Amino acid sequence: MGSSEDTFSRVGVVGGGIMGTGIAEVCARADLDVVLVEVNDAATDLARERIAHSIDRAVRRGKLEADQAQRALDAVVCTSDFDSLAGCEIVIEAVVESKPAKLSVFERLAQTVGDDTILGSNTSSIPIVDLAVAAGGRSRRVVGMHFFNPVPVMALVEIIPSLLTDDDVTQRARHFVTDQLGKDPIMAPDRAGFTVNALLIPYLLAAIRMFEQGLATAEDIDRGMVQGCAHPMGPLALADLIGLDTVMGVAESLYAEHREQLYAPPPLLQRLVAAGLLGRKTGRGLYSYG
Ligand code: 3HC
Repeated sequence: MGSSEDTFSRVGVVGGGIMGTGIAEVCARADLDVVLVEVNDAATDLARERIAHSIDRAVRRGKLEADQAQRALDAVVCTSDFDSLAGCEIVIEAVVESKPAKLSVFERLAQTVGDDTILGSNTSSIPIVDLAVAAGGRSRRVVGMHFFNPVPVMALVEIIPSLLTDDDVTQRARHFVTDQLGKDPIMAPDRAGFTVNALLIPYLLAAIRMFEQGLATAEDIDRGMVQGCAHPMGPLALADLIGLDTVMGVAESLYAEHREQLYAPPPLLQRLVAAGLLGRKTGRGLYSYG
């Protein structure tokens, strides 16, 4: 890396939820111009607030100087105009973990961006090849770029080429997250859950089942894994942090691919999601948050 044609200066992000705003923040803090697209003005305002709140937290923690924070904030444009992505060299899709929603984003992206634009997806589990096919003539430019929550803290990004991805696209995506964003990528296979979620999600589902069956309290399950295995947080607290809708979306993708019971979303998870109790982001999930 190093030559200017290998580096990006303008990044698009589609989706202003926890992951989309986290990715936008990390890009802005790496001195990139960022265009974040949401569906309407209310969602756009919320995305801007999320980024401002997180950047403010970084300043309070002494990780960012006030002038750097202002530069990062100024570098992000949040808009509901999808066509604003037209000038981006790389666009990272981070909408809700729903296959129809993601397919429609890739169909639109293929009609919006330039021929050379790299189309990344932050999907947690949906096959990258399905997104590539939705991108039609741009299928070779599509690559999985799976970040971890909280994005400003977690070093890992999974890079997932599909059967159709150009090698050059995979390499450029990998260099981008390493050299420009300062992350630490691994290559992962294009199978449901890739590497990390294929291991993590069955564990989280097992914890939810154990709690649902009344075999242990939520607190004991979580304390067990924190104090017994030195995990930074227990599986139920982690499911709430990730978002129960996302956990269920990944479970459904894994179950659809493998048809094995360990991937099936437990009834309690399904009911919480149906009730809109999605974890930290809604104030209640497996736990309640003040
Ligand atoms: N945004 C930015 N920074 C954050 C943050 C956030 N949302 N949450 C925590 N941080 C930072 C804090 O500023 C702090 O930084 P500092 O120590 O340098 O000042 C550091 O992280 C530690 O935070 P706290 O002291 O507030 O709290 P904890 O020590 O309890 O750490 C945690 C919080 C980082 C979330 C830690 O509990 C953790 O690592 N948990 C596991 C997270 C995890 O496993 N993520 C992966 C989920 S799977 C996924 O995302 C894939 C998806 O597809 C499902």
